[in-house]
Amino acid sequence: MLVSSQKLLKDARRGGYALGAFNTNDLEFTQAIIAGAEKLSSPVIVQTSPKALEYAGAEELLGIIQTLGKKSKYPVVIHLDHGKEPELVRQMIKLGLHTSIMFDGSALSFGENVKLTAEMVKLAHRAGMSLEAELGAIGGREDYVKSRMEYTDPEQAADFVNETNCDSLAVAIGNVHGEKIKGEKLRFDILESIAKLVAIPLVLHGSSNSTLEEFKKAISMGVAKINIDTELRQTFAKANAGFAKKHPRETDPRAIIGASRDAVQKVVEARIKDFGSAGEARLSS
Ligand code: G3H
Ligand code: 13P
Ligand code: ZN
Repeated sequence: MLVSSQKLLKDARRGGYALGAFNTNDLEFTQAIIAGAEKLSSPVIVQTSPKALEYAGAEELLGIIQTLGKKSKYPVVIHLDHGKEPELVRQMIKLGLHTSIMFDGSALSFGENVKLTAEMVKLAHRAGMSLEAELGAIGGREDYVKSRMEYTDPEQAADFVNETNCDSLAVAIGNVHGEKIKGEKLRFDILESIAKLVAIPLVLHGSSNSTLEEFKKAISMGVAKINIDTELRQTFAKANAGFAKKHPRETDPRAIIGASRDAVQKVVEARIKDFGSAGEARLSS
């Protein structure tokens, strides 16, 4: 079933677990994510970046996720990941095929971020969607986010949440998108201060590089949504290369992509177990 994420994430923060939020660009990743969650009776967030929507076509990709999500007996959230352009965010809310939206105003001044996030919250809520915001700036891939990393300021975060009424907040505590960079280290002291002042569910981006111990610590401090993309891409690429080496004459895309899809599903299942959300869909339904 398709749902927005407000209640799921609140339950997760209260219950001491997190939902996995996995990126998709196509049919196979979507199948892997939803099948993995279903196998473990877990709610799940399937997310589409603006580039994914551009690659596959918004209605085409969201149509696939809608179809698979509606068929699932457990809650599936369809989330817009890192909507940075206000016009695109407004368009996606109007299109109505997501159930949850991220407005990423991290490149803006504090005042502009507050103003635009508050507007997007109102639009999203009117459309029955939840809204995730970002404060501070998560480092990493340069074409994707500002290369500059800026820690979230805990007191500013409290003001930001009060002024915007956002449903969840993506924090920058040293987490970076993409491959691990030298010296990458999560600042749990900052996360702890944010969690003391901000009661809404917190979101950890760029989590492909994190360890089970870090997941557990972050979750115990209020993180209720954990984003994974790079690890799934790496798994898919490695499985493809391995398959080609083993079966150099195989040309059937269903055999080649099917094997990679199974490998991606295994990683989705492993992370869902790490995040502690396995069984939670059954318990809450
Ligand atoms: O952090 C988010 C995802 O990794 C999105 O990446 O913009 O290349 O689709 P993308
Ligand atoms: P990674 O690609 O580092 O896993 O980050 C995913 C993410 O934060 C999507 O918003
Ligand atoms: Zn991200």
